[in-house]
Amino acid sequence: MKLPPFLLERFFARHEFEARYLLCSSDCESMSIGDLLSLEPGAREKFHDHWLGYTESTGSPSLRREIARGYAAVTPDQVLVHAGAEEAIFLFTHATLEPGDHLVVHAPCYQSLCEVARGIGCELSLWQAREENGWALDPADLPRLVRGTTKAIVINLPHNPTGYHMEEPRFRDISRFADTHGIALFSDEVYRGLEYDNADRLPPACSLSESAISLGVMSKTYGLAGLRIGWVATRNAAVLSRMAELKDYTTICASAPSEFLAALALRNGEVIAARNRGIIAANLALLDGFFARHADRFSWQRPKAGPIAFPRLRIGDVEAFCSALLSSCGVLLLPGTVYGDAGNHFRIGFGRTNMPEALARLEESLESQSSIG
Ligand SMILES: Cc1ncc(COP(=O)(O)O)c(C=O)c1O
Repeated sequence: MKLPPFLLERFFARHEFEARYLLCSSDCESMSIGDLLSLEPGAREKFHDHWLGYTESTGSPSLRREIARGYAAVTPDQVLVHAGAEEAIFLFTHATLEPGDHLVVHAPCYQSLCEVARGIGCELSLWQAREENGWALDPADLPRLVRGTTKAIVINLPHNPTGYHMEEPRFRDISRFADTHGIALFSDEVYRGLEYDNADRLPPACSLSESAISLGVMSKTYGLAGLRIGWVATRNAAVLSRMAELKDYTTICASAPSEFLAALALRNGEVIAARNRGIIAANLALLDGFFARHADRFSWQRPKAGPIAFPRLRIGDVEAFCSALLSSCGVLLLPGTVYGDAGNHFRIGFGRTNMPEALARLEESLESQSSIG
């Protein structure tokens, strides 16, 4: 298998720890181990006593129990813990797809959702989200994209990078369509819980269909990316056991301290997610004002969920704009070209507490350097 460089991750590898202001992160505000432990009395002592041997390859029972609580339709045995969502994407793809298989992928997308399959030798059709439709997917496209060889439909809601979120009846239609055609629905739900209105939260795909796979992670909604804990939840026993077999060749089991901390975080998941939704709501109000003041420069599709959006730069080249901005004021925006986007979009992130300061630096820079863009 040959994989090209992961453009987004290479971009972050270059800039993430040097830029003064990250204004394009897709995760929410994080916290220290101490802050997390302080959420439960006695947790500090238990953490110190936690055993550092191998853990169960499927994930520690206490962690899988906490994860399963988030899915009415699955039991802890229907959860497989991974090193981040990234490992789960890699293993799902290898577990279910062969060279020549076809899949339909929601685009633009987090690169591994399409590239790992391409690397195996699969054929892909992109189900393209369009800015002019508010980044919605057109349901009429799906039957046109599917072929006899289609083995998977890969969808990501709430969506990275556009912040698009689908209405429930449409999501149910996709799940039914996949079931009717014997296609596995791989549903990347890593931003689930970050809907601006809780009423918009979709049922997880694994609860709609016995064959669908729901992908979750600690990184985004809970802001705990450093734990590197992700999972799949599914009633599809064949896919789950094949992924578990492959995991013996990647990480074998998760990090024991991370499993402990992730279980603790999920027991307090609603408190953490509510804090992060609060940060997002306050930051989003600032972005509304910012984009209204700079409507001549940017086109703004207000997202429906999550900590990121995908505005368009109206004048100039987006890569040059992002690079000039970084040198002039240390603010990092992510050019859409890392998603293969040719529409002059960039990703902006607003899940962090220092976002108002980063946005202020960006605005000062726009005002003082009319040459940018
Ligand atoms: C849609 C989507 N899926 C998966 C991942 C991978 O998550 P993690 O880095 O926690 O493995 C990301 C990370 O940005 C993402 O945005």
